[in-house]
Amino acid sequence: MCNVINFYINGCQYKLPIVYGTFCEKAINISKLRENTGFITLDPGFKNTGITKSSISYIDGEKGILLYRGYPIEEIINKCSFIETSYLLLNGELPNPTQLKFFSEKIKKYNHVSQDIHKILDKYPVFYHPMGILSSLTCILRSFITTKKNDNNNHVKEQDLFLHLLAKFPILAALTYRKKVGLPPSYADKNLDYPSNLLKMFFSTNKKKYDEFNPVIIDALDKLLILHAEHEQNCSTTTVRLLSSAHSGLFSSVSAGICALWGRLHGGANEAVIEMLENILKSGKNVKKWIEMAKNKKNSFRLMGFGHRIYKNFDPRAKIIENIAEKVIRELGINNPILELAKELEDIVMNDSYFLEKKLYPNIDFYSGIIYQAIGIPKNMFTVMFALGRLPGWMAHWKEMRLNREPIGRPRQIYVGYKKRKIRN
Ligand code: COA
Repeated sequence: MCNVINFYINGCQYKLPIVYGTFCEKAINISKLRENTGFITLDPGFKNTGITKSSISYIDGEKGILLYRGYPIEEIINKCSFIETSYLLLNGELPNPTQLKFFSEKIKKYNHVSQDIHKILDKYPVFYHPMGILSSLTCILRSFITTKKNDNNNHVKEQDLFLHLLAKFPILAALTYRKKVGLPPSYADKNLDYPSNLLKMFFSTNKKKYDEFNPVIIDALDKLLILHAEHEQNCSTTTVRLLSSAHSGLFSSVSAGICALWGRLHGGANEAVIEMLENILKSGKNVKKWIEMAKNKKNSFRLMGFGHRIYKNFDPRAKIIENIAEKVIRELGINNPILELAKELEDIVMNDSYFLEKKLYPNIDFYSGIIYQAIGIPKNMFTVMFALGRLPGWMAHWKEMRLNREPIGRPRQIYVGYKKRKIRN
């Protein structure tokens, strides 16, 4: 394999090193390009820019492959729990039984938040979006985690911080939900596993729409968390990595990641999908009209839940999630017109030349909202559920940045504003 590439600018020859990945992905290392030639590269949206070398996950967007630390997502989903997956992402290997016991018990030990967090939450206006609440509570949560009372230095082992966040994140999400629906807090139960606790903290004492401990629902929720756990250099993960590069703390970096995920072109798409499907239903179910609108370049409307920057064949997570959605709907005996409409829309889109030519396929967000809705989670909490899953991935990237001692992220730009000018007297 060739290790350098020769290229010419204005007749002068230059050499740049080539970097190879595990699956022979190729990159030209341009870090010295400006120094040697005066040129920078320009790539809005980082469509063709690798920003790091990472060993956490691998995606082949053409073949629809997703690996977590080398394991295919299809295998992980059937053989691992979310907690095992989190351990894998954070530590590089699956845990042995002793490691798993220690990891799970620590999470259960940290499964509570300070009463001050409850008081702060009470002060938020009830209409404020749950993603905003989750982000700000995550940021301040760090100040309430100390090893001992009156520990002014506040030294907590890094590994413990990861576990605190894994333990406390579902509590923040559940408290936010319960405040919205006017319910008092429901505390974690140390006898329950991670997804069961999540359901308990969200729904207990609420009017049950389903059996709280229904194993099909618990399994579906755990699988959804796994499917969302990691997805290499997406917008929110890159945000977390950038903050980590500046040596920002774990909690503030994750807090920024939550805000990035909130956007409708990213994690916020799951909420937007259900809104779109509801609007299609309300407006008389004229699916073709909506598809034409998405194709019309004069209209800014896009079919939410379709398209992906990396997947240009199919999203392997979408295939898995479609099966989970069907299982949950069947189990709960729900006759869901939204699911039927989703299938109809998918069928039409998958036979439409516009979407085929542009390689726009359903992504994970197309079906996740349908499952959350069936479980009883309100629309504005969907992206919060995504964040709960993505947490171990964000933390693994934050950690990798520090371990690799990566430099601070600081892109360049091409300035197109005014030339130097004077303020008129
Ligand atoms: N509906 C209609 N057209 C779409 C589309 C959609 N959902 N997604 C992309 N396109 C079109 C674009 O208009 C563009 O057309 P053009 O080449 O004629 O200008 C082309 O497909 C490429 O789209 P682009 O926005 O450049 O791709 P991207 O890689 O920058 O964006 C997404 C990827 C995911 C942001 C984009 O597909 C999208 O907005 N999808 C809907 C939101 C969503 O589901 N997000 C969740 C992602 S997991």
